[in-house]
Amino acid sequence: MKTLRVNIPNREYDILIEKGLLAQTGKLLSTLRNPCKVAIITDSNVLPLYSAQVKQSLETSGFDVNIIEIPAGEASKSSKMLESLYSQLINAGITRSDLIIALGGGVVGDLVGFAAATLFRGIDFVQIPTTLLAQVDSSVGGKVAINLPEGKNLVGAFYQPKMVIIDTETLQTLPPRVLSDGCAEVIKYGAIRDEKLFETLEKINEPCEIFENIDSIIYTCCDIKRAVVENDELDLGERMILNFGHTFGHAIEKHYNYSTYTHGEAIGVGMIMESEFGEKIGITPIGTAAKIEKLLTQFNLPTNVDIDANAIAAGVSTDKKGEGNLINLILLKQIGAAIIHKIPKSEVTL
Ligand code: NAD
Ligand code: GLY
Repeated sequence: MKTLRVNIPNREYDILIEKGLLAQTGKLLSTLRNPCKVAIITDSNVLPLYSAQVKQSLETSGFDVNIIEIPAGEASKSSKMLESLYSQLINAGITRSDLIIALGGGVVGDLVGFAAATLFRGIDFVQIPTTLLAQVDSSVGGKVAINLPEGKNLVGAFYQPKMVIIDTETLQTLPPRVLSDGCAEVIKYGAIRDEKLFETLEKINEPCEIFENIDSIIYTCCDIKRAVVENDELDLGERMILNFGHTFGHAIEKHYNYSTYTHGEAIGVGMIMESEFGEKIGITPIGTAAKIEKLLTQFNLPTNVDIDANAIAAGVSTDKKGEGNLINLILLKQIGAAIIHKIPKSEVTL
């Protein structure tokens, strides 16, 4: 088993990575806790695939388990679903000293994490991510949130899990588009921090080949995120580099009403656009955008979308990395080395 320790003072936790780990959930949580009540919260797609195995493992170790199901999909990251979740947890007899588990992709992880941060002013939770995006990104680092009608992730918290259990076998059941979506985040890690990872990915011809080295690729990505989050848990500086591709990518997602392109697809194109911009202003070496474009194609990800300068400008003006008239744009000095480039918003163009 591969293990990483996230060292945030007073909120340290382990990330455990191995095929087949779900069957060890009970044993692993016994290292955190004496048997207590546990609520597994999962979505309607993941429940029939993996919840019975997790429940059985927990019960074998003496935990008293309830399963709570939410509908699959982004719409579940809502205040309505959050309120329903609070009620179901209270009705299941969960108290402040018990434990809740997020079993699923980033939607389940973000919603359950936010419920954990707020119910009883904070209850311990564990992430068991089952999508590639959740395994390399959303389950680590403690960003938890729900959406509002006004926008995505507008209500949230920094609330670290007590453990992250990554069973890479669960990725085998992902629909191909969801797998490719997560690959965009993996490519992002290579681009911002790890040229070797980028080169490893360049040798892959189609998405399913990523399974040959999946444990070590996920370990590498989580290790990058671990280091960044340890330095800047609250996203005031270095953590912003994780948003490479996101300024233009969010503009694309918003322009298409979060329906045409997945998050990974949009940030993939965003990485190309931001690299082209970096090349134009002389920060990013010429040819970088082309390298990223080629890699995205290998992972069946789109490489261009129909969007005009006004839609990009609208995205830049509402980007969370903005400071007044300035924006902290993430650019590549080279593959494997991202920088935060402060620039007037009006100068960021297609
Ligand atoms: P998701 O949770 O909607 O999962 C995608 C689909 O895959 C869903 O239909 C789900 O039911 C299904 N699924 C999950 N695991 C499966 C499995 N093993 N086999 C078969 N199907 C499975 O989406 P996601 O891409 O995992 O996460 C997206 C969410 O993550 C967004 O809400 C985004 O805002 C959030 N996010 C959060 C962070 C963070 O740091 N907190 C970072 C990135 C993204
Ligand atoms: N997904 C970006 C972050 O955790 O900061």
